[in-house]
Parts: sequence; structure tokens; C-alpha cells
Amino acid sequence: MSELKDRTIAEIVSDDISTASVFKKYKLDFCCGGGKTVENACKNANINVDDVVDDLLNNKSKKDAPNLNFKDWSAEFLADYIVYVHHTYVKQNLDVISEFAEKVANVHGQHEPRTIEIASLFSNISSELTSHMGKEEGILFPAIKAKADNHNFELDVKTMSLIEDEHEEVGEMIKKIQELSDNFTTPEWACNTFKALYFKLEEFTNDLYQHIHLENNILFPKVKNL
Ligand SMILES: [Fe+2]
Ligand SMILES: [Fe+2]
Repeated sequence: MSELKDRTIAEIVSDDISTASVFKKYKLDFCCGGGKTVENACKNANINVDDVVDDLLNNKSKKDAPNLNFKDWSAEFLADYIVYVHHTYVKQNLDVISEFAEKVANVHGQHEPRTIEIASLFSNISSELTSHMGKEEGILFPAIKAKADNHNFELDVKTMSLIEDEHEEVGEMIKKIQELSDNFTTPEWACNTFKALYFKLEEFTNDLYQHIHLENNILFPKVKNL
């Protein structure tokens, strides 16, 4: 633990770019002011260094998620899982990623115009997904649970197909970001904010693909067969 305190923020972020979100959470500059040790940066900002070190130690990439047998789950449980895991992830990350995207577009947009397009696409994704998840949590998922509970309940097919259309639209936008970012490959000259943006965008994309897959390919067919 003391080892992490004595390392500079820039070193830690350069070794593992996923730690950028921890520093972001505590508003500790990992880009231009990253030369300070974690301990000194915390002292200056009046932050408890142990909290930051704890978060750094707990910062685990989602790659470590276990393999789960989603197909065997009930529709109600799956709907809850999607909300607790994927909707929560999206809600927690939209603002962080938007902020990174805007910063990178402002600083590097002239030199690399694709960053401006990425920021604008992400801003569309952010508003689309917010309203989309609202429909799922407020209308579709409660209806799915009611149908699972009572087999006579008629599910509004129109809502479900509207939701599927929205998945396609968001999927197209995220694919465009993947293309524009050369599959999340940062240029050699990229600063830590740029690296953090692409790291988070890749994580977000993987999460979104899994999220939409669970809804389109497992939850909805399960509900249609109820
Ligand atoms: Fe969803
Ligand atoms: Fe969805």
C-alpha cells in the first residue's frame, strides 16, 4: 500500500490506464499535473490518501467478470440483472466519458478532427441511452415482469420493437466511434486524457454490446416464448 502512495500519478496511469477514472473521481490531475506522488497530490488537495489507494487496489477491469449462464435465468431476474449491472454502469460512465471526449476534442480537435466527431457521437449516444433506459425501466421491464408473473398479460409488441430499433441506432453510433478511433488505438502523441478516453470508450463499447446482446438475444426471445 505504501508503495502506491510513493509512486507518481503519471506512472500509475501510464502502467494501467484504467486507473484514470479513480484519479478523475478525486479530481486529481493525471494529465498535466501527474508528476506528483499520490501522497503529495492528496495532501495538496486535502484528500485522504488511504481512500484513493483503496480505490486503486479495488480497481479491477471488467475483463475479470465470471462466465454466467444467462439463458438459464428467469426473465424477471435477467431484467433486474440488466438494470443493476448494465444500466448502472452506463449511468455511472456517461458523464465521465463525455467530459473526457469534450476535453480531447477541444485540445486536439484541430490536429485530429475525428476527435470532434467522436465527442459529438458520444453526446448523441448519451442522450439516446438515457431516454432508452428510461423506457426500459419505466415501461418495458415492468411489463416483462408482469407477463412472467401472469401469463395472460399482453405485452406491447410495439414498444419491444421500438426498443430493438433503438438498439440498432445506438449500435451504429458506437461502431462509428470504433472506426473513427481506429478501434480505440491512441496515436503516439496522445496525452493521458486521450488514453483514458479511448480506454473508457472501449470498456463502454464492450459493456454496451453485452447489454444489448442480453436484451435482444436472451431476454426478449424468452419473453416472447412465455
Ligand atoms: Fe437496457
Ligand atoms: Fe436496451
